Amino acid sequence: MKTYLVTGGAGFIGSNFIHYLFEKYDDDVCVINLDKLTYAGNLENLIDVETRENYRFVKGDICDAKTVDPLVQEADIVVNFAAESHVDRSIGAPDAFIQTDVYGTFILLEAARKHGVEKFIQISTDEVYGSIIDGSFKETDILEPSSPYSASKAGADRLAYSYFVTYGLAVIITRCSNNFGPYQYPEKLIPLFVTNALEDKSLPIYGDGKNVRDWIYVRDHCDAVDFLLGHGAHGQVYNIGGGNERMNIQITDLILHYLHKPDSLKNYIQDRLGHDRRYSVDTGKIAALGWTPGHKFEQAMHSTIQWYVDHKAWWGKLKSGEYKEFYKANYKKEL
Ligand code: NAD
Ligand code: DAU
Repeated sequence: MKTYLVTGGAGFIGSNFIHYLFEKYDDDVCVINLDKLTYAGNLENLIDVETRENYRFVKGDICDAKTVDPLVQEADIVVNFAAESHVDRSIGAPDAFIQTDVYGTFILLEAARKHGVEKFIQISTDEVYGSIIDGSFKETDILEPSSPYSASKAGADRLAYSYFVTYGLAVIITRCSNNFGPYQYPEKLIPLFVTNALEDKSLPIYGDGKNVRDWIYVRDHCDAVDFLLGHGAHGQVYNIGGGNERMNIQITDLILHYLHKPDSLKNYIQDRLGHDRRYSVDTGKIAALGWTPGHKFEQAMHSTIQWYVDHKAWWGKLKSGEYKEFYKANYKKEL
């Protein structure tokens, strides 16, 4: 039985990954979830697993070596999801991004080197490449991150690689595109627009709404990480994508249409600073190993939107406190 140390396991993708592991491996896996519980960490995401004997939650910071060291020592596999993850916040206050995304990853890598873990998965992002107008980035392309968030993720990505080259640590790096699904904090495009629309509030579209993102259902991302644990080569980077490139305005229309809400909720506002026009990754490398996403975009979007319709108790609280203050101060968006 393998012991996984999942960092950032109370966040969006981390909590989906923990659910994925228990659904797939049930009692044949042991999971330690290390999470600082920032505004983005939410133990409600894990209520249905919290009493399992093969699950343990530890509240702690990946920047704190004293907390990290004994947990890494227990683990066979480290999957590092912990990060500050929201581009808009990184524009307003980059400090925590450098601290957690770069220094925190360093602390984890040091502990992993000391205790010689079997695998270390660094969850990087497609944003490290920067924007691309035509074509798609391959893993060998240069990195030109454009926000403090993506630059800090690029730092962690290359630091993880250096631990493979220099110390032979069994590192695998993933660069995934935009995830959507249940438990995503309602500051990101899809949950923000769905929950605003449900409350008949306006949908703040940056710029002309024609920026393009590739969307992947979170469950497929989790499946790809699990696949790479079995099939990925150490020291390698793997792009992960859904193959669903859409302009933000298309996402907006899909949400309004599903919820039977009027076009008048669309509100074009000032663009994000340094807003990357398009992200696109070439996923040939992971496909050649035998992995492709299993979910169809429209179906997964509908079930995701419906999840937010059915879980107002989950997001209502999040939108009433700290979130509200942040947006009032930074974006003057309608809440
Ligand atoms: P999230 O913001 O929902 O969750 C991040 C989690 O990390 C939270 O639970 C938070 O409490 C925790 N955390 C933050 N700082 C910490 C620290 N110092 N120590 C311990 N825990 C800490 O983010 P997400 O969207 O689930 O993203 C997870 C990872 O996947 C991130 O590394 C992100 O860069 C990467 N990623 C995200 C996407 C996406 O579309 N969301 C796509 C590609 C890659
Ligand atoms: O590409 C992977 C990345 O996707 C991850 O690494 C990040 O952690 C994750 O947050 C996400 O970054 P984006 O900046 O692409 O996601 P976000 O949901 O913030 O924005 C998606 C697009 O929607 C982007 O073009 C900006 C636009 N947008 C976003 C918000 C929050 C709006 O037009 N209005 C908004 O209010």
